[in-house]
Amino acid sequence: MDRKFDYEYFRKSADYILDKIDFKPEIAIILGSSLGPLAEEIKNPVVIDYKDIPNFLISTVKSHAGKLILGELNGKKIACMSGRFHFYEGYDFEELVIPVRVLHLLGVKTIILTNAAGAVNTSYKPGDIMIIKDHIKLMGASPLRGPNIEEFGERFFDVSDMYTKSLRELAKRCADRIGINLQEGVYFFCPGPQFETPAEIRAIRILGGDAVGMSTVTEALTAAHCGMKVLGLSLITNMAAGILNKPVTSEEVDETGAKASEKFRRLIGEIVKEIN
Ligand code: HPA
Repeated sequence: MDRKFDYEYFRKSADYILDKIDFKPEIAIILGSSLGPLAEEIKNPVVIDYKDIPNFLISTVKSHAGKLILGELNGKKIACMSGRFHFYEGYDFEELVIPVRVLHLLGVKTIILTNAAGAVNTSYKPGDIMIIKDHIKLMGASPLRGPNIEEFGERFFDVSDMYTKSLRELAKRCADRIGINLQEGVYFFCPGPQFETPAEIRAIRILGGDAVGMSTVTEALTAAHCGMKVLGLSLITNMAAGILNKPVTSEEVDETGAKASEKFRRLIGEIVKEIN
């Protein structure tokens, strides 16, 4: 990694974006694999390619569009990232702070992180949506490693309520209202790009993980560091390795993602409406 991160580094990306809009988004949504279609519902969109934003990162994953969409959803000003960045693409953990810090500088106070995940908890099934109650990340460094930038937050910071309780309750109320059943559990971060081994999944279950995935955690930590409220939602696309007598495939992940995306969109729409 040869980038030098200081406050000005992130300011440069944010100023480029702020120059193209005449409002400040208060809510951000990061869309995971196959969840891209939500972006089509955004009114009066200003669409910016990641590759045009100075100091930003570039999506390398097929199912990730690589666009920042700014506009209105259900009466709220939002910034929506259609496509995110992962450790498995070759980015360092320290680089993965970029999108969330830039969103913070745009004015974002609440972030909704979505992802596709494998079920470790055998009572879950593909198509379920899980609210992330907490996470486990045993692998690798923190995205907040390195010199602390005080403008964003304190060196040592609390993560005991990083998946904001009031937002989890709000999500449950919204799901009830529109007749969607939700799970709530612990997201276990695995860096990928390989899916996990059956032995890893058994270990994750013993350790307290309910779902497993390759994203979200770096963004959530960065958001918690700069004081954002965080809601994490996992779309369960498959049973994790070793649970069923079949391999885990990205086709299954994409297919289930596509089938459940309408339900997911409705839920996010309701949640956005309710966030103050
Ligand atoms: N493992 C890791 N990441 C995933 C999975 C999985 O089973 N499904 C979707 N993303």
